Amino acid sequence: MYAYDEIDRTLINERVAEFRDQVKRRLSGELSEDEFKMIRLMNGVYLQLHAYMFRVAIPYGTLSAAQMRRLAHVARKYDRGYGHFTTRQNIQFNWIKLADLPDALAELAEVDIHAMQTSGNCTRSITADQWAGVAPGEIEDPRIWAELLRQYSTLHPEFSFLPRKFKFAITASDHDRAAIKVHDIGLRLHRNDAGETGFEVLVGGGLGRTPFIGKTIKPFVPGRDLLSYVEAILRVYNQYGRRDNIYKARIKILVHELGIEKFAQEVEAEWLQMRDGALALDDASVADIRSRFRYPAYENLPDDTDEVKQAASDPRFAAWHANSVAPHKQPGYAIVTLSLKPIGGAPGDATADQMDGIADLSERYSFGEIRVGHEQNLVLPHVARRDLPVLWRALDRLHLATPNVNLVTDIIACPGLDYCSLANTRSIPIAQELTRRFSNHETANMIGRLHVNISGCINACGHHHVGHIGILGVEKNGEEFYQITIGGRADEQAVVGELIGPAVPYADVADVVEDIVEAYLALRARPDELFVDAVKRLGLEPFKERVYATR
Ligand code: HEM
Ligand code: SF4
Repeated sequence: MYAYDEIDRTLINERVAEFRDQVKRRLSGELSEDEFKMIRLMNGVYLQLHAYMFRVAIPYGTLSAAQMRRLAHVARKYDRGYGHFTTRQNIQFNWIKLADLPDALAELAEVDIHAMQTSGNCTRSITADQWAGVAPGEIEDPRIWAELLRQYSTLHPEFSFLPRKFKFAITASDHDRAAIKVHDIGLRLHRNDAGETGFEVLVGGGLGRTPFIGKTIKPFVPGRDLLSYVEAILRVYNQYGRRDNIYKARIKILVHELGIEKFAQEVEAEWLQMRDGALALDDASVADIRSRFRYPAYENLPDDTDEVKQAASDPRFAAWHANSVAPHKQPGYAIVTLSLKPIGGAPGDATADQMDGIADLSERYSFGEIRVGHEQNLVLPHVARRDLPVLWRALDRLHLATPNVNLVTDIIACPGLDYCSLANTRSIPIAQELTRRFSNHETANMIGRLHVNISGCINACGHHHVGHIGILGVEKNGEEFYQITIGGRADEQAVVGELIGPAVPYADVADVVEDIVEAYLALRARPDELFVDAVKRLGLEPFKERVYATR
């Protein structure tokens, strides 16, 4: 966990006081909704279909038990008793009253939480691998660099009015759990041939109306130069990015139109002028940030424990253990994923009681630390393996032990027409129906890793382009239709999925997904050939044929 200092606290408390005054002026009518819009967006407040929506930052997805408890409190006191964890490792509250917002923000500020830069045309809250600091084989904890970027970019005057929003994601593992290739800037920490650590920098990835996979702009930027190099990218974007057309404003369009070589030349020229200036990082400033990350005092424990061996005779525990427990870099410990995808539930939702329960369990079994992943699940990052059976029983009581992580029912879905003012169609009910169709664990397990991602409109908040099966809602003559893509993925082999044919009506979506899955089961080369690999090998045709032969 990172420990805030007085500068961080002063900043967020001043922001609360400022916002309190702004809300007062909006409520008295002194500010119109139009005038207020810019102000509220700077504090993560949207106006949605039914109410204001409040988006809270969880930098690089790390939360303490106290912070989780406070989020539960906000859900209970100011909302309808639940919150929604999102693909950006944030949490959103959908039913908050404007008059309550300053108090909610003030209560969150007491535990070092804010909502700055969760919205607007600025550098957004920075996301990272949810297994940062605990993944075996990781180069180093990428959150140290994410925190440096957070401090550098927070309220940065030059980057508060960019042509469009700007998202960073960072990982330090070979396997990309942070979807860095679909971010404006993706960073992968790695070691070069000389054994020095630095970053592969990718630029111009993004989803939405025009999806692009990020391109490597520089294979190796030393840690010392990270801030100056990303600042050079942002400056070039700020200067040339389009401001006349919102659909062409993202950096991905600029990179596409200029070409990555030309864009890289511009960045290089900018960078060479400034790389040795104030932004060059010395070892002391990196060490200072590093020293403010607190790590658990792990015990020396064996990996094999009698507790787990005994519990494994219960098939429900065994299924959960096989699905939700991953190896940890420290022997005797495990990384545990908590599924926020119960059968029939809204993906990513957690009740206040669940949040409180998770906070308690994290204190007992995970050194008081929790992570939010971009797949809308939570993680307890430091669980002693001997505690797994007792933790499982407690999670099961909280309905947080569905053993479906990475299976077909672990669906990513945006809020769609249930909340979102931009939506064309519903997303959540589609996810709910699909989880019911595939509710049999043995079947889902036999199908294996399969990511279904759903968005209620072209903005792609549900990452549908990079779902192994992607579902995009489109409206046709006032009715809900859905385009289906297959073969997308968001990891180190990221690729945008391909459309299999004409959009299908709402009532057919679950049948179509079932058809696709059946085609895969019939055609896969081996039981361990993943769906997405089978699609790559076979192409679209056999899936198309299966879906449209009878429609
Ligand atoms: C309910 C209120 C929401 C609104 C009004 C909203 C609005 C938008 C808009 C307008 C875009 C398109 C931006 C562009 O392409 O330039 C977008 C993209 C995105 N939003 Fe949302 N969103 C909402 C909720 C969410 C939720 C709940 C999530 C996560 C589950 C989310 C995560 C994302 C992501 C990951 C993108 C991807 C596109 C990209 O940046 O490449 N948003 N959102
Ligand atoms: S994809 Fe569209 S419908 Fe879904 S949350 Fe984003 S803007 Fe709303």
